[in-house]
Amino acid sequence: MEGRIVSAKVQEEDNTELSLRPKSLSDYIGQTKVKENMSIFIEAAKRRNEQLDHVLLYGPPGLGKTTLANIVANEMGAGFKITSGPTIERAGDLAAILSSLQPFDVLFIDEIHRLNRVVEEILYPAMEDFSLDIMLGKGPGAQSVRIDIPPFTLIGATTRAGSLSSPLRDRFGVMSKLEFYQQDQLTEIIKRASSILGLQIDEEGATEIARRSRGTPRIANRILKRVRDFAQVKGNGKVDLLTAQKGLELLEIDELGLDKTDRSLLEAIIDCFDGGPVGIESLAATISEEVTTIEDVYEPFLLQIGLINRTLRGRIVTERGYRHLGRLDQFKVKGDDNC
Ligand SMILES: Nc1ncnc2c1ncn2[C@@H]1O[C@H](COP(=O)(O)OP(=O)(O)OP(=O)(O)O)[C@@H](O)[C@H]1O
Ligand SMILES: [Mg+2]
Repeated sequence: MEGRIVSAKVQEEDNTELSLRPKSLSDYIGQTKVKENMSIFIEAAKRRNEQLDHVLLYGPPGLGKTTLANIVANEMGAGFKITSGPTIERAGDLAAILSSLQPFDVLFIDEIHRLNRVVEEILYPAMEDFSLDIMLGKGPGAQSVRIDIPPFTLIGATTRAGSLSSPLRDRFGVMSKLEFYQQDQLTEIIKRASSILGLQIDEEGATEIARRSRGTPRIANRILKRVRDFAQVKGNGKVDLLTAQKGLELLEIDELGLDKTDRSLLEAIIDCFDGGPVGIESLAATISEEVTTIEDVYEPFLLQIGLINRTLRGRIVTERGYRHLGRLDQFKVKGDDNC
């Protein structure tokens, strides 16, 4: 998983990607519906001179949740503070963050589904009434004091909206799902990133990378950088179709954008579980991965392109999945068995 080029998780070198991050809604490519909605909410809040409603952004990693939250703060002309569910350990940590906010600030909580219960309860009155309930003293003499905090906007991001408790979910005025990007949108993202990086790339080269980026901008940018290395060392520094293909071949990323790990997941279902159905726990144990990693990182794209299916009894590899691995003959045999 670590260092995996098609991983949509943040890796260290992605820090240089900060400069690739679009800063305004008009530079944010794709996600048309979400963008349209957000721009209306932002405009309305600005006209009323109010803070924006709390927003929950959900969807697979690397699709631009953090980027979008940052843009929303920019467009509102507000400050942006960033933290994440697992880093806020105690209620006091969150209380400190909340009381340091300026009016209309955007507080971004990444992986908000990983907040612990005690911390989460601090958020309820903060989101609803812009107030904090603080306990003074201990034991029978303890008193709860309510203090006001400035009006702010919470933007929560999660890969799994279903894991949010309902009291928390209910406090978001806006919930937006980010979708995988279309190929032409990724091509545009790649061309934009190339021009920021001062890299020459032609249409065919950009399209080839886009086609194999799993609908995910973070992956597109990462592949682009590796292909750039390849073009500089083995070619003339420019990226065209051939350089892109050779670079992707070296990275062992196949025609659909799958890497070795994806293929071994599919193969495990076929070889160890006769194509499925297989429960997620058994599958995770077989390929030595966390259940949540499979669910959040691998599965969404494999489902999206129809290589696997989720049934009531577990995951199965589809006919398309068998064909992609060049094992269609085995799918037919299995189909007969089932009849
Ligand atoms: N709509 C977009 N247009 C152009 N570039 C984008 C867009 N969305 C994302 N990117 C690029 O992809 C990178 C990853 O985006 P970002 O970090 O916002 O993803 P994320 O959804 O927050 O992922 P995670 O869930 O892992 O936190 C950004 O650094 C940016 O360069
Ligand atoms: Mg992020």
